[in-house]
Amino acid sequence: LARGAVEPDLAGRHVVVSAGGTREPLDPVRFLGNRSSGKQGYALARTAAARGARVTLVAANTTGLPDPAGVDVVQAGTAGQLREAVLKAAADADAVVMAAAVADFRPAAYAAGKIKKRDGQEPEPLVLVRNPDILAEISADRARPGQVIVGFAAETDDVLANGRRKLERKGCDLLVVNEVGERKTFGSEQNEAVVLGADGSETPVPYGPKEALADTVWDLVAQRLA
Ligand code: CTP
Ligand code: CA
Repeated sequence: LARGAVEPDLAGRHVVVSAGGTREPLDPVRFLGNRSSGKQGYALARTAAARGARVTLVAANTTGLPDPAGVDVVQAGTAGQLREAVLKAAADADAVVMAAAVADFRPAAYAAGKIKKRDGQEPEPLVLVRNPDILAEISADRARPGQVIVGFAAETDDVLANGRRKLERKGCDLLVVNEVGERKTFGSEQNEAVVLGADGSETPVPYGPKEALADTVWDLVAQRLA
């Protein structure tokens, strides 16, 4: 292979990647959101395409990131929309990687008109309800036998123990665990992680570009598909 060329080890495969962060609307102008930039998910989509996969990228509020060349991009704003888009794309997928930050809760009610403040009146408390857990759902009810499912988790404190518990709870095959802290901020170009496998494996990924972490994820996925 020429220098810079990549082994097309995902040729003939369909992979689904979710990226970005969901926004749960309160009224026509306001939402509950998070700081996920979408960069790690986009790096996963680009690297999978470079390795020959057909890629569906389910993008949640990633304005500013260019659509990766040769990738099908589906927009999904809320957790509910992301769930619909991921379930649909996963139906014939060999692998699904949930890199999106999905809101755990959404406002119980949506106000069709803008919420207004009134003189001398305290605000109403915000009532929230749980969103469905997409990763747990697709892991428990695989669209295809042998489909490889990957989650992401940002943790503090006992990062590995928390990651192991989460991997078991979700029922996915791989969980990429990031430590949240100092230089590991949202929106950065770099990442450091450990990829935990349901088979007990542990793959450390040193601090470096998000493409490097993405390639390690695809290496582990390709091993499991083989
Ligand atoms: N996830 C999901 N659906 C949700 C919440 C999370 O599919 N409603 C996925 C994320 O895309 C990610 C993984 O689950 O791949 C882990 O997300 P995380 O927020 O760390 O997990 P939670 O179970 O929500 O745990 P926590 O209480 O720590 O937020
Ligand atoms: Ca969560």
